[in-house]
Amino acid sequence: MPTKKSVSVTLEGVSKVFKNTKGRPDVVAVHASDFTVNPGELVTLLGPSGCGKTTTLRMIAGFELPSSGKIRIGTEDVTMLPPNARDTATVFQSYGLFPHLTVGENVAYGLNYGKNGKLPKIAIAQKVRETLALVGLSELHDRAPGQLSGGQQQRVALARSLIVEPSVLLLDEPLSNLDALLREQMRIEIRRIQKRLGITAVYVTHDRVEAMSLSDRVIIMRNGEIQQIGSPQTIYEDPDSQFVASFVGKVAFFPVEGLEKQDGAWNCRLGARNLRVHRFASDLEAGKPAVIMARPESLRLIEKIEKVEKKEKAEPGSGYVDGTVHMNVYLGHSVETFVETVYGEVLVQIDDPVSKRLFPEGAAVSIDFNLDRIRLLRG
Ligand SMILES: Nc1ncnc2c1ncn2[C@@H]1O[C@H](COP(=O)(O)OP(=O)(O)O)[C@@H](O)[C@H]1O
Ligand SMILES: [Mg+2]
Repeated sequence: MPTKKSVSVTLEGVSKVFKNTKGRPDVVAVHASDFTVNPGELVTLLGPSGCGKTTTLRMIAGFELPSSGKIRIGTEDVTMLPPNARDTATVFQSYGLFPHLTVGENVAYGLNYGKNGKLPKIAIAQKVRETLALVGLSELHDRAPGQLSGGQQQRVALARSLIVEPSVLLLDEPLSNLDALLREQMRIEIRRIQKRLGITAVYVTHDRVEAMSLSDRVIIMRNGEIQQIGSPQTIYEDPDSQFVASFVGKVAFFPVEGLEKQDGAWNCRLGARNLRVHRFASDLEAGKPAVIMARPESLRLIEKIEKVEKKEKAEPGSGYVDGTVHMNVYLGHSVETFVETVYGEVLVQIDDPVSKRLFPEGAAVSIDFNLDRIRLLRG
């Protein structure tokens, strides 16, 4: 298919308030959203149910009008334009295929409107063939939707959106109705097609693995507000808050005291240990509560260290948390060891378990940090 020039999508101070009905209070679904999706970029809106993802997407599509703020597609202000006057196409969670039409007819249906309304039959047939080839469904042209698997139906829905060659593709939880294996295949497929077309895309999901694996950048939302925008690596390794840290992956938090900045890094105390931490959120304040965040793969188990003197000798300043092994979960490429500590249950990931020492249930252990990987966040 011909590739159009990619465009950006920009939201400036976009809010949406749903006015109260039947005496219920107003709902601020989206509050002062600011972001730009660059041309050809796939950006995901990620957050818990009800945080305003769908409302944001519907405002970009034109199905909802913002209460305030501006939306631009490319340089055009589309804030008040109806959906059919915007160069967008939306794929929903429910496929919405017509059961009485064939796959080909369902895909062609997208062309019945707007700028494509007057295409000759032969041009339509050609476009349908190209689009079905793009989503890998060439052989299923004459089938009825009822004869397709869930994944195939979602591909038809995707083809129907793509056939109009929109500048912006919007997807709202398109894979939620599929089983786990199919979801994994389809998200790779969607990413492949999006890259090949170079189309700008906004993808909504509450599934962090989906967001991480699909996106150029991820926007984490909570209660209608953007919490952080960054690449999958940034939001995983350098989250700015405990909310973001726990939403995008497994994590443990250890409260620290005596927070103090010195020469571009923070000093703090965890239990009896003094630590110096080089990765940190920008909103820390000396003397205020803070936590160390540690991903399971940046923790390591060692035999419990009994005496403080011995700790000093072992690795000065690296910091230890004592605990008891509660459970080992074997995952092939790794083992997850759950350790009970005074800070709650801590998950330690042991990679390449064949060559590593595993501690049995009930073992007394100390947890050691990889000091290069831990990060300080506001408490
Ligand atoms: N048409 C509507 N009328 C009133 N409230 C709405 C409407 N649509 C969404 N909301 C509310 O706005 C908030 C955000 O909803 P939504 O954008 O659908 O969240 P998400 O897609 O992240 O689950 C929720 O509190 C929801 O109940
Ligand atoms: Mg939603």
